[in-house]
Amino acid sequence: MSDKLTGNELRKKYIDFFVKKHNHLQYKSSSLIPDNPTVLLTTAGMLQFVPMFLGYEEPPNPPRIATVQKCARAGGKDSDIENVGRTPRHHTFFEMLGNFSFGDYFKEEIIPWAWDFVINEIKLDVERLWITVFETDDEAVEIWKKTGVRPERILKKGKKDNFWGPAGASGPCGPCSEIHYDLGAEYACCDNCGIDTCECDRFVEIWNLVFTELNQDEEGNLTPLAKKNVDTGMGLERVTMVVNGVTSTFDTDLLQPILKKVCELSSKEYKKDPKTDISIRIITDHARCVSFMIADGLTPSNEGRGYVERMILRRALRHGKILGLELPFLYKIVDTVVDSYKETYPELARNRDKIISVIKAEEERFKQTLDKGELLLSQLIEEAKQKKDKTISGADAFKLYDTFGFPMELTLETALEQGLKVDEAGFKKEMDEQKERAKAAHTKISLTQNLIFVDILKKYGETDFKGYETNRIEGAKVVAIVKDSVETDGAVIGDEVDIILDRTPLYAESGGQTGDSGIISNENVKIEVVDTIKLDNLFIHKAKITEGSIKTGDKVCAEVDNLLRKQIKAHHTLAHLLQAALVRTLGSEVHQAGSQVDSFRTRFDFNFDRGLSEDELAQIEDLMNEWINLGFDCTTRIMSVEDAKKSGATALFDEKYAADVRVVSVGDVSKELCGGLHVENISELKVAKIVSESAISAGVRRIEVICANSALKLFKENNAVLEQIAKTLKTPVVELEGRLEKILEDNKSLNKKIKDLQNQIAAGKMETLYQNATEGKSGRVLVERIDGVSADILKNYAEKFADKLGESTIVLCSYSDDKISIIAKVSDSIIAKGINAGAIVNEIAQACEGKGGGRPNFAQGGAKNPANLDNALKTLKDKLV
Ligand code: SER
Repeated sequence: MSDKLTGNELRKKYIDFFVKKHNHLQYKSSSLIPDNPTVLLTTAGMLQFVPMFLGYEEPPNPPRIATVQKCARAGGKDSDIENVGRTPRHHTFFEMLGNFSFGDYFKEEIIPWAWDFVINEIKLDVERLWITVFETDDEAVEIWKKTGVRPERILKKGKKDNFWGPAGASGPCGPCSEIHYDLGAEYACCDNCGIDTCECDRFVEIWNLVFTELNQDEEGNLTPLAKKNVDTGMGLERVTMVVNGVTSTFDTDLLQPILKKVCELSSKEYKKDPKTDISIRIITDHARCVSFMIADGLTPSNEGRGYVERMILRRALRHGKILGLELPFLYKIVDTVVDSYKETYPELARNRDKIISVIKAEEERFKQTLDKGELLLSQLIEEAKQKKDKTISGADAFKLYDTFGFPMELTLETALEQGLKVDEAGFKKEMDEQKERAKAAHTKISLTQNLIFVDILKKYGETDFKGYETNRIEGAKVVAIVKDSVETDGAVIGDEVDIILDRTPLYAESGGQTGDSGIISNENVKIEVVDTIKLDNLFIHKAKITEGSIKTGDKVCAEVDNLLRKQIKAHHTLAHLLQAALVRTLGSEVHQAGSQVDSFRTRFDFNFDRGLSEDELAQIEDLMNEWINLGFDCTTRIMSVEDAKKSGATALFDEKYAADVRVVSVGDVSKELCGGLHVENISELKVAKIVSESAISAGVRRIEVICANSALKLFKENNAVLEQIAKTLKTPVVELEGRLEKILEDNKSLNKKIKDLQNQIAAGKMETLYQNATEGKSGRVLVERIDGVSADILKNYAEKFADKLGESTIVLCSYSDDKISIIAKVSDSIIAKGINAGAIVNEIAQACEGKGGGRPNFAQGGAKNPANLDNALKTLKDKLV
């Protein structure tokens, strides 16, 4: 172990290593508030470099950069907030040491460098280090071995553990390799504790090396990036902890001054009472995070990022209450945070007064709410005292928590003092329901964050949507242009911008129907619109200028991409047909639970508690095709909500509707309230084909269905595959089924023959195996692993060898067909010495996720995981000889 390096020294060591030794440029940390509006907060060091990874921005020369990045993981999909305080090392804010290569060095270089850094620079004990690698990345495994890491220290893991990214809904990502540090066996969570078996606190991931070679689009499709890149990230708090031989990041010199200040203010001692410790850690972490956020210009609010900040701040305040602190108190911690970090992050010192005043004002506001909560709580207590069961209901406790920010712990404690109970299960139920609601709302956050559009809407008013009547309008006025989240007067060729017109025929994504693409143009400019979205009734065209230039105030022609629009309309009408066919086939209890209509398919979710049979699916598909053949007209009428209801129209999910609504009817087949766009006659759908049916959550099913060009394309492609197979097998298409069955049968019998032969070969190898026996205190000891052999053969040989060896302990194992067989045979005279076949089998099985046992002289067992088998056999053998 090195001398105690401080967090400050580690930052410097890391940067020096990459800048001085490996010729990197040092870049400053970017703000905690990223430019990218689809990402809530800066969650990783790579975020500021996304345009370089994607090739939109030129990297510097040399194309290698090192940073110390401020990161926050709270709110949104990467949130860690629930864990903060409850584990020894989760944080809302943390610092990430990172180095990045843009098409420059790759695995061959970064792996040995990383090893050099951990072994030679910060002198971590090699015996405590483990490496994980993405399951198919043999190349990385070889490089780690070449670098000097022992093969048994390298583990392969799947996508969940060893594939990183993207940071937002889409972007650069790739397989990764991680360095983990073992805090030691004394922190084992159970007897089976190991890096490959559990995810407990004993093993700390310290460094993540990402081989950023892929881009993931919003649909989840992966495509290779033009260049192979590197993005590594090492959590400063964690590495400081490991280097200093402590087991909690809160015990490092980075967090200690703040934690001590919290203890001083609350007159509490740390590490005396586990419950108090949680609150101390939460306040420590949150005070730091909020200070950094305010320094980066973020203030608490009720929306988007500002809401996340308010949530963190109030959580700290609630835990202050639990510690008995009176509000305001949090602002008193700011000086300690600023003084601890001001050298690395001068923006803290520059904004010291602002941080203090923002926090204090927010505390005072929250105090008023809490006071109201206290008043309500005392009323509830009085009411509960009158009741027979003397209980405060879960709904009331939740209201206190949700509306007045009143901590449940405080409600519980106060109730207890008065001899009352609180319905905790009821509280949890309310809480879970709220989480579900929050999840549903989160998908819209990128838009609500775009406060700029709220501003534009206020300034210029709503867009007039003309798409129900026409696909093209002349003379629309350019009202606003937004570039890189800033409103601007003009844009030129190559710019990617958001354009707002006073009116438009382009449909903006809503009601499940995808946004339109199209062209905006005049004699000076051509603009490709790739998508249209809306904020209330402000239509936002996501666009790229492909010719000329444009200014606000210009008059333009806006035109829908008709080919795509035709397909979108067909798929929207198809959604209505599917809904009608589902109700007719499965009953009227089927309710729509969401839909997504694109130009290439319709995705339809509905409440239903079981999977559909093939017959039901065929029936639904036949019904839709029958209607399409009959060629019903599709008509739209505008009427009042009341009239619509009276006419029997189906309303889609729980949407709010305006006073006047559109009712879309398909012959007598379907009548729905719908703001979307539809075909004139359903023969335009040509044909309907269900492509999948599955469950997406308990009680919710999803059907994907296609029509028109998408269906024809699928038929054509499937037919081409069929014809190719027929050609390869030299069999006419109509006879393919019989031919295939025959091939599968032949295959099965060939496989069996191969297996028999493999068994014979392995058995041949076994003949002389008994010669490996060694003399020991358990007689002649034979412990062997021979893969590819069945349990029966092992048993046979155990008998044979026992005859040959006389007084002996024989243990034979085999890994074959994804399972381990274990056989142990012990001579009677050896049993007397305390050796037991049942115990032996049990020991090996336990080590390999299996079970087994038997008599003292003969036992057998099976297990699943061969990773520990060799080790277990070695340990056993050492014991026996
Ligand atoms: N982007 C990776 C991470 O955040 C490595 O920097 O872990």
